[in-house]
Amino acid sequence: MIRLASPDIREEDIDRLLAVIRSGDLVQGRSVEEFERAICDFAGIPNCAAVASGTAALHLALIALGIGQGDHVLVPAFTFPATANVVERVGASVVLCDVAPGSYVVTPDAVEAALSSSKDTAIKAIILVHEFGFPAEVARIAEIARRHGVKLIEDAACAMGTIADGYHPGHYSDVACMSFHPRKAITTGEGGALLSHNAALIEELKRLRNHGIRVRENGLDFTEAGLNYRLTNFQAALGIGQVHRFTDELIARKTLASHYRLRLDGIRQIGLPDNSSGHSWQSFMIVVEGVSRDLLKAQLLERGVESNLGAQALNCLSYFREKYRTDELSCPEATRLFRCGLVLPLYGKLTVSQIDVICDQVLTALA
Ligand SMILES: Cc1ncc(COP(=O)(O)O)c(C=O)c1O
Repeated sequence: MIRLASPDIREEDIDRLLAVIRSGDLVQGRSVEEFERAICDFAGIPNCAAVASGTAALHLALIALGIGQGDHVLVPAFTFPATANVVERVGASVVLCDVAPGSYVVTPDAVEAALSSSKDTAIKAIILVHEFGFPAEVARIAEIARRHGVKLIEDAACAMGTIADGYHPGHYSDVACMSFHPRKAITTGEGGALLSHNAALIEELKRLRNHGIRVRENGLDFTEAGLNYRLTNFQAALGIGQVHRFTDELIARKTLASHYRLRLDGIRQIGLPDNSSGHSWQSFMIVVEGVSRDLLKAQLLERGVESNLGAQALNCLSYFREKYRTDELSCPEATRLFRCGLVLPLYGKLTVSQIDVICDQVLTALA
């Protein structure tokens, strides 16, 4: 069976994790700091706060940027629901924006149109998702956000190593949020991080992840209603080596994605994802046309290839349908990608000949 995803966890990572467990120094501490420094070095962004998950990162970003009751937040319709759930959890409302057919992300024009046409809904922030690692046009979107006086959060859950307009997520926005769930490019089991040029914001986020504790000369003080969104030292220890090796992982993913593109190009029933040199290829999602995606997925499984649907169309999910009265037609592109998108296996340990096997099976199933 060729698995859909398989994290690059090596003996050296397990040894590092075990050393932390043996030390008894389990909760957030030195290994978390080392992990944060490794992420900063890799991304070229000076400040990082590691947290318990990508969802925790997004939740804290909204709190720290002052988004709450009565506010509206622009969210891509095609994403994992966590992007929007956190907006609902801070008491704000979601405004959905449809995505582009080949990149699966929102465009500057769509963002501009949404901000310009929603004057009375008080959009206070945009969450820009680099879905599957595709580099969204963040420089233009950041300029639009500034012009409209709106905060910009990058949901970079899938975008470790993505280079958008010359930089890693966290450069143009107020803050970028990453996830280290096992389906992501590196993993700490569960985990996440926030990246920003704004050192004061990251300090604030570090207090919020740790009960709102501020260390004063005469002891601890609790200066805000924080949460416990800390990462443990042993989770961080698992991630450190993966960050150090990630440049090689990225090269491997790009090579494998190019091979998929070569093999599947021109096949009538398959729409390929847009290519870009800054794509980090967390996932490779094709769009299946004229045949049932679910049938193809089942046939691939029978032939020893795991695959899965990509992301959700939020406009099609019960919560958003009921609260916002959306339907399939509200965001037709997201709906199409949700119904017809199929993610094929992609990770650094795969070989070009395994990609050939997967492509052969796809073509046989479609024949
Ligand atoms: C785009 C996006 N945002 C947020 C998340 C949430 O991350 P986590 O599972 O680490 O909470 C995910 C995870 O699947 C995601 O794909």
